[in-house]
Parts: sequence; structure tokens; C-alpha cells
Amino acid sequence: MTGFGNHFATEAVHGALPQGRNSPQHAPYGLYAEQFSGTAFTAPRAENRRSWFYRLRPAANHPAFMPYVRESLLRSGPFDEAPPTPNRLRWDPMEIPAGPTDFIDGLVTLCGNGDPSMAVGTGIHIFTANQSMTRAFSNADSEMLVVPQQGRLRLVTEMGVMTVAPEQMALIPRGLRFRVELPDGAARGYICENYGALFRLPDLGPIGANGLANPRDFETPQAWFEDIDAPYELVHKFCGGLWTASLSHSPFDVVAWHGNLAPCRYDLRRFNTINTVSFDHPDPSIFTVLTSPTETPGTANCDFVIFPPRWMVAEDTFRPPWFHRNVMSEFMGLIGGAYDAKAEGFVPGGASLHNCMAGHGPDQATYERAVEAELKPHKIDNGIAFMFESRFPFRPSRFAMETPLRQQNYDACWSGFRKAQVPGGGSGAI
Ligand SMILES: [Fe+2]
Repeated sequence: MTGFGNHFATEAVHGALPQGRNSPQHAPYGLYAEQFSGTAFTAPRAENRRSWFYRLRPAANHPAFMPYVRESLLRSGPFDEAPPTPNRLRWDPMEIPAGPTDFIDGLVTLCGNGDPSMAVGTGIHIFTANQSMTRAFSNADSEMLVVPQQGRLRLVTEMGVMTVAPEQMALIPRGLRFRVELPDGAARGYICENYGALFRLPDLGPIGANGLANPRDFETPQAWFEDIDAPYELVHKFCGGLWTASLSHSPFDVVAWHGNLAPCRYDLRRFNTINTVSFDHPDPSIFTVLTSPTETPGTANCDFVIFPPRWMVAEDTFRPPWFHRNVMSEFMGLIGGAYDAKAEGFVPGGASLHNCMAGHGPDQATYERAVEAELKPHKIDNGIAFMFESRFPFRPSRFAMETPLRQQNYDACWSGFRKAQVPGGGSGAI
């Protein structure tokens, strides 16, 4: 089913979806009706997101959660285990684990900001896995934006099943139970936990009615369920902690549902990229796929931005990303290929962090090449990089600071620039 945030209606068994009301006295087949909220009941209509499930048993049918006692590198806000750093950071890709590891145990936090219990900020994680989950996960702290980088993910959710490949993304609503299967074996990728306002398509302003990520390219699965009466573990994340409970049955027992809160996937290659056809290139916000706004207009809790294949045609222009210091903080990842600001060191599966006001931009090799380049049209057609950009500085985890994957010499890529030669001038001091 297509469309971002549409009101969908779907049933895996004919007649399972009640018509004309949400909670009839007798739901079809004796199914249990259950509302699943993504916004406060009283959120304005344009913001309001919720769906209705019709399932074999209510989600409430589980025993008390117990603490999940296993070593985990998953962290949550307030991200205070390592001091925040103004330094520019970059990491090599995380290896696929040697021992059996599923999606839950393969989650490693690199950084984050805010606090899930205050509904502000993000958590940025890498996942690596080599085993399909045989249990379920749900996250009461955030919706999850999943960006696979290696290997497809088959996401079995309460609301249906979708396969997501590298160069696609998935968005999983807060609290939705899901498991991650690995049709290709080993998998790796990036996750943004969004504690703030739900991700939505950005306004387009003067661009007009079309462009960037078009709503109809977001795909949501139809209802699907499994009827399994056997013990099933549910791992639940709440206020940063992991908890576990044993259900008597598979939680994937939603036979029909309707509503506008649902998982979706999007193929990043369908992004309608808009860029200059004269000179200079616009700010990279022109590449925003989804945004989580804050109360301050135009100032995001998190923007998901991609750098997709595109033609470069600007005249008399330094074409790579320019040098800059940004009031917003930038976490970057690379899905494949190479990024046009970095000749080396930033590799697929790796990551970089340029916090608020950190000077950054092209490395020296990229700069030298760009100022010598003949400015004929050429296509950047070498994979996709992406950015999670936030108004709040990202605070690294202790793992992120101490892992040998962190490149100790990252600053050196900007150290060798020759000084510009300027004739002496007077003082303009006042
Ligand atoms: Fe930047």
C-alpha cells in the first residue's frame, strides 16, 4: 500500500476488518480490537496518528517484564557516560560479529542527544547481525529509522512484513513489535531512534507540489499474521533500559488493521534530487528525505538527509560540499560507493560526527582536485551517503570514544592546506 501517513485499511482474512466502526461489541471472528497511538489522543487532526488492530489476543496478554540481563552496548539519553567533545570524529565500519548475534544483541550506540523520557533528541546506533531473530523487539522510546548498509532485512511486524535492502530505508513506529530476519545472512546498517516529533515529509516551499521524496513512493505492508501457540520472548526498550517477558504465543497475530500509523519503507533511489543549474550549490537541506521538527520553525530535532546520485553542472563553482561550520550537528554514514567531499577514510559502513560549530568540509585531496577540475557536466553516481542532522549536539558513547575503530588521525585530512597569498592591507580596526 502506498503513500506516506495515509489512512490504510487491510485484512489478511476476508471479513476480519470491522466496517463502519472501530470497536464493535463483537469484532469479526472474536478478534480483539486494540488502538495503537503514535500521538496524543488530542493532537491536532493534521498531526494525529493512530491505528486500530484486530488480533487473536490483546497485546496486554503478557506477564511482567523482567530486566534483560545481557551485556549490551546499546545506550540511551541522556548520553552522559563520556564527556561531549568538540572534536571531529570518524569511525571505520564495525565488523560482523564472529559469534551468533541477532539484531537486538548487535545494537551498538555511537552517539545521541536529548532524552527519551523528555521526548527530545535521538539515539544513533550501528547494528550488525548474523542470525535472524526468533523473538520480538519493541521500543517504547522512539520510532526507528533503519538504514541497511549490507544485507537485506526482512522485517516481520505486527502490521505486516517488508523486506528492506541497502539503498532503502524503513520506518518502524514507536512500540510496534517486530523481528528482524536476515535473508542474505550477515547484515549491517544504521539506526536513528527518534525521541522527538514523528518523522514527516518536509514542506516544499517554493519547490512546489512535487519533488524530493514523493509521498506515493513510501510503501506499507498489508496485514499478515502467524498463529503460533508456543513461548515467545518479547524484548522491550523503555526509558533506555531493556526488559524481557515470555509470551505464551507469537505477538504477530494482528489479522486486520486500519489507520495512519504504520511501518513503511522507501527506496532512496526514488528521491527526486533538486540542485543548482546555474552556480553554487544549495545547502544540503535540499536533500532532506524526512524531518522531525521542533517547536522552533525550521530547526529540526532530526533531519534525515541523503546525498544521492546526481548531475553536477554548476558553472564557476567549487562543486564539492564547501567548508563550513554548522550550528546544527551532523552524523554521517555511507551506504555504498564514495562521498564527494572525502577522497579517502570515509568508507561504506563507517561513520563521522561533526558537532555544532566543528569546522569541516572537503579533505585536501578533494579540494585540490576540485579547484583544478574542468567544469563540464558530470554525474556523481557512486553510492549514497546520508546524514542525521540535529539541533542538539551529539554526545558520543564511551564505546564510540574508546573503540579502535575510531580513527585517531582524522584531523590530519585538513592539516595540509597552503595559506592563501594576499597582498598586505591596512587595518580596519575600530
Ligand atoms: Fe557538514
